[in-house]
Amino acid sequence: MILAIDQGTTSTRAIAFEVTPQVGRSPVGDKNGGGGAFSAVAVSQIELAQHFPQSGWVEHDAAEIWRATLQTCREVVRKAGGVGRFAAVGITNQRETSVIWDAATGEPLHRAVVWQDRRTADVTARLAAAGHEPEVQAATGLILDPYFSASKYAWLLDAVPGARERAARGEVKLGTIDAWLIWKLTGGQSHVTDATNASRTSLMDLKTLQWRADLCDLFSVPMQALPEIRGCADHLGDCDASLFGRALPIHGAAGDQQAALVGHGALKAGDAKITYGTGAFLVANVGDQPVASTSRLLGTLGYAADGQVAYGLEGSIFSAGSAIQWLRDGLKVISDSRQSEAMAQTLKDNGGVYLVPGFTGLGAPWWKPEARGTVIGLTRDSGPAHFVRAALESLAYQTRDLLDALAKDGAPALTRLKVDGGVTANAFAMQFVADICEVEVERPAFQEMTAMGAARLAAFGVGLTEALWTAPAEAPAVWRPRMGEAERARLLKGWRGAVKAAIIAAE
Ligand code: G3P
Repeated sequence: MILAIDQGTTSTRAIAFEVTPQVGRSPVGDKNGGGGAFSAVAVSQIELAQHFPQSGWVEHDAAEIWRATLQTCREVVRKAGGVGRFAAVGITNQRETSVIWDAATGEPLHRAVVWQDRRTADVTARLAAAGHEPEVQAATGLILDPYFSASKYAWLLDAVPGARERAARGEVKLGTIDAWLIWKLTGGQSHVTDATNASRTSLMDLKTLQWRADLCDLFSVPMQALPEIRGCADHLGDCDASLFGRALPIHGAAGDQQAALVGHGALKAGDAKITYGTGAFLVANVGDQPVASTSRLLGTLGYAADGQVAYGLEGSIFSAGSAIQWLRDGLKVISDSRQSEAMAQTLKDNGGVYLVPGFTGLGAPWWKPEARGTVIGLTRDSGPAHFVRAALESLAYQTRDLLDALAKDGAPALTRLKVDGGVTANAFAMQFVADICEVEVERPAFQEMTAMGAARLAAFGVGLTEALWTAPAEAPAVWRPRMGEAERARLLKGWRGAVKAAIIAAE
């Protein structure tokens, strides 16, 4: 078995995967075997408190994250029959969220600054105004935005008295959630991070997969406080034997969106996945060389394992499932998210009503943090169902914007779009994604692609399996485009007008 830890923005989970290895060496991603069959046999989950100390600030308690990790892992190990049944631990996590801790005590020195936090917007705006964006983008694939860890690390070092001096002496450590958990799991023996998490800091060179001194200088982050970068299926340390009763090796780690890429088996150029959670993150595999985006997508690392490196282009949508939550908790036009499907279908079309769910600004490819949610096209006929339908349709339009940006960037033509996340249970929304995006949409039978990716990396790393992925036995659900061209063009024209209105309203 593999113990997969999935430390997300809103909860911490541990999942025990039973692995049935298959014999025969096959290349990474080969469909014919070697990647093993994985089935989840035990799960434990604990919600995570969100702290909003000021407008635009979002914090997590790193000590709470650690306690929840330990508790969920212990529960899952017990439920799955004891630590003797486990071969390794794999970790996947919310990315960019930045932790500072004391090397001697292993205690956090401040609350973690979460990826959504905008407190360093002035820092990245200043760097952009000084003309640094092209060099940062060329080196890291990332635009200048407070989303990424570098400016958060610098803020933490300045906010904690004495931290800068102590970091220079090696007494203070920095890291994303993977590094924090590995430090705690190994009892302070390993200060390491995986290359996909490192690719979200703005400090790692996307080609060499190493920290860059010039970027550490630019962001005022001392390199000696950063973890060592390792591959996603490398040996990352051994758990302190006192935690689970045995020194289980940690053999895999990846940021959650990259782990989902592996979980889906999107391992070849042209494969792409989108995870519809609170927000939605599209990652397209572009092959073994990074692609520089000219349309405001992010260049990122897909994974580095088994001597292979796959690069990705990523598009982040800030509101996806949260738009459905808003229908339920804000507008109260549905009492359960599952009602949205039937309600949308009471209408023959959207009646010209479009919702741009810019509740927390617009992400890729617009990057308009000041934009807000916008509804256009209301008439006296418009009712609750129009809001529901417009919210569901917005998932597809936003996905289309990302796919258009991908095509503009010259990414390999998409084979199929692999989807996961809560909203994918909504068949109306998935058919609409297929129709608007003109692509086949594939939803695997087992949905936990993020944890699955971490488990697959760890199983491969520890030698349980011989390839990163094998197609699961259960067939996926598939939606094929069936909308006519004229209809699609008309709807996209309406959407583009709505986005324009949202952007103009914010200017
Ligand atoms: O980049 C942020 C992303 O990794 C967070 O994912 O699933 O924890 O919201 P999630």
